[in-house]
Formats: sequence, structure tokens, C-alpha cells
Amino acid sequence: MSPSVSCPSCHKQKGSLFIIAPPVKRIAPHKRFRTMRYNTWPMWGKGSATGRSEDRFSLLVHHLIERGWAVTESFLPPAIVCELFAEAYDLWRQGRFRPAGIGRGAHYHVRSEIRGDMIFWWDEETPTPIQHIYRAEIERLRLALNETLFLSLVEFEVHYAVFPPGAFYQRHRDRFRTADERMISCILYLNPVWSDEDGGALRIYDSQGTTSDILPRAGTFVLLRSDTVEHEVLPPRRSRFSVTGWLRRRPRGFRI
Ligand code: OGA
Ligand code: MN
Repeated sequence: MSPSVSCPSCHKQKGSLFIIAPPVKRIAPHKRFRTMRYNTWPMWGKGSATGRSEDRFSLLVHHLIERGWAVTESFLPPAIVCELFAEAYDLWRQGRFRPAGIGRGAHYHVRSEIRGDMIFWWDEETPTPIQHIYRAEIERLRLALNETLFLSLVEFEVHYAVFPPGAFYQRHRDRFRTADERMISCILYLNPVWSDEDGGALRIYDSQGTTSDILPRAGTFVLLRSDTVEHEVLPPRRSRFSVTGWLRRRPRGFRI
């Protein structure tokens, strides 16, 4: 029997599904993974680490091909999103976020007139248990995208982001001019409560000149092509939390 676990953010007791995170190499002994207990979730079937089938990616892949971006509410069960939010919120309160910049390497600089978010990079070598679970899900997605779209995605870089009230990110694409490894942007929103009046939508520009606005509500997960899809973040009225990452291919220098 395992003790029931309550979510640190909403304090609700979690339900009946066990998720056992697979072990990871090079992990400090004190950070070994524990068994977690989460809500059952309708999308969950049998036969994977979290008990799901891969069919759930097919619509995402379809939209990615059709229009360069895709959105779903059911990428992760609410309890996992809740725990990610709790972790991000704690780090935020501890002052661990830094102003995000634009560009890379020598070209990197903070330009708050272009983007005003604060970020906390995840360390791949020492993931927390909930980061490990998120990475495991992204890994399943990576394999599905490689298989169905013949991509050569090899890595995932990821950070928490907070847009404080009034902060924004001007219309842009995610691929750097100086480095072309970023292929697919993956954004998971974390705020459990969010209304239309809170603003902070992700605005996606379609090639026909139309726009789609996506509200950053907990559990909403967006994929977009990093090289082509223009998007912007409209200013929120409340602090807006997300996990933002990029599936990358190998840098050019490493290609054979
Ligand atoms: C980014 C970005 C979108 C969002 O960080 O590059 O565009 O909705 N984020 O947070
Ligand atoms: Mn972006």
C-alpha cells in the first residue's frame, strides 16, 4: 500500500493511478525518483510508462503538417501539470528566475522592449522527479515525431517561463538566425485559473494573415514549427507561468 499524495499547489488528494518514473542515469542518490500517485485521466490506456497509447499524438502531428502548429488540452493529466506549477511557483518565490534574452552565445542580450519574460532553465543532468516525468512524455512525443515526420530530433532544451503583469514577447519565430537546431517549440501552460480578462494569449499568425489566440490555461499544450510559425505573447494582467522547450536536431557541425 502506498500513502496517498496530495498536490502541493491545490492540496487535493490524488486518485488511483500510479506513475512510476523510469530510473535515469547520472542522478544524485538523494534525488532518486519516488513513486507518485496521480489522478486517473481519460486519455490513459495501457502499455506505456504512463499507461497511454501513441494514438493521442496523431491529431497533433496532423495539425503540425497542415498548418505548422497544434494545440491540445490532454497532453498530460492535471495532477502532473499541477505539480509542475507548484515547482515553478516555488522557484519564482525564491527569486530563481532570470530575465530572458534574445539571440545566442555572443549575440545574447536582454531586450525588454522585445521580450519581458523571466526564465529558469532546467538542468538535464539533475531533473527533479516532476521534470523527469515531463521529459519522459516529451521523449515519447519526440519518437512519434521522428517516426511520422521523418525528423531527426535528438535533444530537448527547456525552461520555466513567467511573464509578469504587462510583460510581452513581440511577434517572432523561435529559430535563431545564427543556429538552426530548433525544430519544434513545445509550450505547456501552468496557471490553474485563467480567464479571458487576464489576457496573456499566445497569438499565432497563420500564413494567410489570420491569427489564432490561445489562452494560457493549465494543461493547454502547444506545438509549433520553430522555423516558420510567427507568434507573439500578449501582455497578461497576472503572472503567467509556462514550461517552454524546443525539440532540436543535431547542430550542423555534427552532421555526417
Ligand atoms: C517563447 C514564446 C510563447 C508563450 O518563449 O519563445 O514564444 O506562449 N513563448 O509563452
Ligand atoms: Mn517563441
